[in-house]
Amino acid sequence: MGPGPSLSAPPHVDIDAIRDRAMTCTDCRLAETRTQVVWSAGNLDSDVLFIGEAPGFHEDKQGIAFVGAAGQLLDTLLGEVGLDRSQVAIVNVIKCRPPNNRDPLPDEIEACRPYLEAQLRHMQPKVIVTLGNFATRFVTGLQIGITKARGQLFDYGGATVIPTFHPAAALRGGRFGGLSPVDAIRADMKVVRTILEQARARDVEARQQAAVGSSEQLGLF
Ligand code: URA
Repeated sequence: MGPGPSLSAPPHVDIDAIRDRAMTCTDCRLAETRTQVVWSAGNLDSDVLFIGEAPGFHEDKQGIAFVGAAGQLLDTLLGEVGLDRSQVAIVNVIKCRPPNNRDPLPDEIEACRPYLEAQLRHMQPKVIVTLGNFATRFVTGLQIGITKARGQLFDYGGATVIPTFHPAAALRGGRFGGLSPVDAIRADMKVVRTILEQARARDVEARQQAAVGSSEQLGLF
């Protein structure tokens, strides 16, 4: 078990009620400057959760996470491993755009913490992909930079955490350890796909064993 809570413990999260509260949230200063709260994109009932940093200009206008250039890159890289937004959820550490896209402040992250934690408890994802520093620190609980975290796998309540570069950083270019950030994310997407398939195979096996177990129990009577 890693630093995260057990995702399998709480049986039910009223995610619609929590989302409704978020949509009118005034728990931090960003409520004064946002156009709207950006709750998520994709499918919050899927097995894979991508976590970004904060909504940008386009997300703030449209109310959907990752719809700008970084989101388009993310879609392309998802598509390369046969995934799309119907099969993953995409959220941010904070749900409101910081003015001029500045970094989220520590008190803004804390004010927004219950929303992301509720999304995690609701989804109980098998795979969590943290995009960049803020999401990686939130999920691992470590003061670790993405360059160091990338290439390691972490655990969050039974989910495998895969840290990778933020697509916006990839759009800026540069090289990290010989790889371009786009190629690094591309490689990490293959890891996402593999870990997802392994987790699903384990689920199928566990269900089959449970079915055998219960038919054996029935045979006792
Ligand atoms: N960058 C993020 O971290 N999140 C978005 O939703 C868009 C850009």
